[in-house]
Amino acid sequence: MSKPFPQDSMLQENFAPVMAECVAPDLVVVEGEIPKDLAGTLYRNGPNPMFPPLANKHHWFLGEGMIHALQVEDGRVSYRNRWVQTEQYNAQRKAGRRLIDTAFGGQGLPEAEGVKRNVANTNIVFHGGKLLALDEGNQPVALDANTLDTKGSWDFGGKYQGPMTAHPKFDPKTGEMMFFGYMAAGPGSPDISYTVVNAAGEVTRADMFKAPYASMVHDFITTDEHVIFPIFPATIDVERIMKGGPTIAWDPDAGSRIGIMARDAGVGTIRWFTGDPCYVYHPMNAYTSHEGGRTRIIADVMKYNRVPLFPNTDGTKASSNLADETSMLVRWTFDLDSNTDTYTEEALNDLGGDFPRLDERYTGLDYRHGYYAALTGEPARGKPFDTLVHADMKTGKRTEYRPGPGKFVMEPVFVPRKESAIEGDGWLVSLLYDQSRNLSDFIVMDTDDISKGPVARAELPTRVPFGFHGNWRNAG
Ligand SMILES: [Fe+2]
Repeated sequence: MSKPFPQDSMLQENFAPVMAECVAPDLVVVEGEIPKDLAGTLYRNGPNPMFPPLANKHHWFLGEGMIHALQVEDGRVSYRNRWVQTEQYNAQRKAGRRLIDTAFGGQGLPEAEGVKRNVANTNIVFHGGKLLALDEGNQPVALDANTLDTKGSWDFGGKYQGPMTAHPKFDPKTGEMMFFGYMAAGPGSPDISYTVVNAAGEVTRADMFKAPYASMVHDFITTDEHVIFPIFPATIDVERIMKGGPTIAWDPDAGSRIGIMARDAGVGTIRWFTGDPCYVYHPMNAYTSHEGGRTRIIADVMKYNRVPLFPNTDGTKASSNLADETSMLVRWTFDLDSNTDTYTEEALNDLGGDFPRLDERYTGLDYRHGYYAALTGEPARGKPFDTLVHADMKTGKRTEYRPGPGKFVMEPVFVPRKESAIEGDGWLVSLLYDQSRNLSDFIVMDTDDISKGPVARAELPTRVPFGFHGNWRNAG
């Protein structure tokens, strides 16, 4: 027997899970037309807790992952959604109830002993011929790219068994996938792994190093020449946890430490820069500049002044509302020819948001076009983002799409109009949640001017809960 979902803002409105898996072969395109030359699949991942939490405590980050796939071809679009069938999922489905907590620090039920905690709920990427669902605490989980059937954990042919960030980076020139994994030497350890996988899916480099302290490390940044490992003070302190304190806590005294390494150098050469305490879930992009004969790293990141969704070290202010904190797009500049360990920061605009993306053919390179989700309406519970933003990083110009009252947006994903298209020429694909219909729409925007609204809108037969990240995979 299960019990009802509790009153928790991260389990209500469009944060609430959907309980049905479905296939919709032809979505009704209710506005405009799906561009004929748009062909591929938008995969999205997000937490979708399969049962109510134990003990009524729930964290958004710990619900079991559900994949949503929008397949586009010949002006038509189909939809399907599936849970990722991890060990955790399978054990709970078999039991018909929740065995593993969706709260940090929970112990789970005795039946959960030996069951690997894996929610695979954060991102979904395609690399080396594999569709991989990712969270940041486990190996990736491979899925069938058409049916979304779970194939099982993927260890890169036995070459990497550790945790993998949900934010690997892809070198647009070499096709390599680079990733790190934190707590790579076990829970609470400051050890970080760094792995490079070639375009064929083979591990070509596997390293380990120690961060200045153990913390939640959500993302990192790469350029064509450097790797940047940002460590922010959302600390994981074993001593604190043993005393009953929070698993992950805002610990500003630890400061921010940003490690920078040349891609062709060893982890022993990582140079640590020091900055004010802050938290960045997501960078937009970074690149290495040699202007004026000096080597600099320019990194554009969505910076929160305090980590959202996690308490202080003493357990106070256990915020569960995204609207409590806003992140702003800032540019950090690291001068690698200087002798200091500091870096500079400048604000890039005055509209906060998150889920920054770019034309990923420019990952790690000097770039112009960025995209993100923002909140321009009144902050309120259960209403994260209501605006899509196209930011011209060279001119500062900002173009916005506001779908209107009661409509909320998710992470925008850029698709080039064609392979040879210039940077930023293409479409943004995303999902819109319409509160009045309690349903989601697939939308396609032309990046030429997103303020005109979608060139196509197709109605889903269900809602796609607010989740995390997605990626487009071209057909063929
Ligand atoms: Fe993320």
